Amino acid sequence: MVDQTMPTRVPRKLIVTGGAGFIGANFVHHWCQTYPGDRVVVLDALTYAGNRSNLASLEGKANLRFVEGDICDRVLVDELLQTEAIDTLVHFAAESHVDRSILGPAAFVQTNVVGTFTLLEAFRQHWLGADQPDHYRFHHVSTDEVYGSLEMDDPAFNEKTPYAPNSPYSASKAGSDHLVRAYFHTYGMPTLITNCSNNYGPYHFPEKLIPLMCINILMGKPLPVYGDGQNVRDWLYVGDHCSAIDTVVHRGTPGETYNIGGNNEVKNIDLVQMLCELMNELAPDLPVRPAQNLITFVKDRPGHDRRYAIDATKIRTELGWTPAETVEGGLRRTVEWFLHHQEWWQPLLSEEYQAYYRQVYA
Ligand code: NAD
Ligand code: DAU
Repeated sequence: MVDQTMPTRVPRKLIVTGGAGFIGANFVHHWCQTYPGDRVVVLDALTYAGNRSNLASLEGKANLRFVEGDICDRVLVDELLQTEAIDTLVHFAAESHVDRSILGPAAFVQTNVVGTFTLLEAFRQHWLGADQPDHYRFHHVSTDEVYGSLEMDDPAFNEKTPYAPNSPYSASKAGSDHLVRAYFHTYGMPTLITNCSNNYGPYHFPEKLIPLMCINILMGKPLPVYGDGQNVRDWLYVGDHCSAIDTVVHRGTPGETYNIGGNNEVKNIDLVQMLCELMNELAPDLPVRPAQNLITFVKDRPGHDRRYAIDATKIRTELGWTPAETVEGGLRRTVEWFLHHQEWWQPLLSEEYQAYYRQVYA
């Protein structure tokens, strides 16, 4: 029997930028599974961080289209918005790694600022051309790093915390957030911004802390902990980030920003210890056991933010979103995933990746 109290959901037509990256791919899986009647077009330039195999199990589905292309390519973006009659743009595409932004900031300004601007302009024309429909949404996926660094006893970041980005990465994300905000205030375009804390889970590129530690433990390589290892990050399982974006796309108020976090603050050294414990338990033939013997303190990241923490009260109280995963459960799932998907991460340790690794960790 049909529940008469539930409003019928109108299917959406999405463009997901950066849908072959870590969070974007998890989001595409989430969306296709939850809303099989929706159209999903993935636009991804397949940079070093993009990996089409992240979407392998969805290839061939009639409602999913993959387009290899750059978000800075206005002609391409215009064409996709029009021919696919897109009503919802979910924007993940970015240069996302802080250490790479220190080595070479130009690509960060290009993709994160110029690319976001290109999408905003294209979407504005598209929305105007369609007579400004109420249900159109431009969802910009951003980061807690735009708020800068907290001392240990500071309150967590909320949506009113002033921006104070410290790395070229976070400065470029802050620039893109400001542009998105301006498009709502100036043009009334229905934008949404989410600022999320550190994610982890399947398809996480090896350069980031959690996959890097998992892979190095499995290979018996040193586990490089920056500085004194006392920096704090607020960890969120990637599936929870996807469900939060889903909630905001459907129920968020245009023009608003929502912080997303799991209330899981952990010191880096404690996190590495947890990963070592899990690997000791789950991986029978580690090259070095216990894995803790591999922990090595190395030179600190320049300008290393001390602590991030998210106050997610607004999204919880206004939209009813809460994370489903604990940090213990999420880390166990993630370690198991890296253990059982060596065929996924092995090819990513390319010569190009090794050169990057030598540059950062030499
Ligand atoms: P990622 O580096 O894993 O993936 C980025 C994707 O964007 C890749 O598929 C890449 O090919 C694509 N891309 C890069 N430049 C492009 C361009 N010019 N045109 C088209 N595609 C391009 O990143 P991620 O960790 O999945 O992060 C996704 C988004 O979420 C980013 O905007 C990031 O700032 C934000 N974010 C990440 C985290 C995190 O913990 N990883 C937390 C909060 C917010
Ligand atoms: O907070 C959200 C952000 O989280 C996202 O916006 C970024 O895209 C994402 O990369 C991530 O940034 P971080 O710099 O916090 O993540 P990363 O995994 O690079 O590092 C996490 C912490 O671990 C940080 O304090 C630096 C430290 N670290 C990292 C690496 C790669 C180490 O100690 N050793 C390492 O080898």
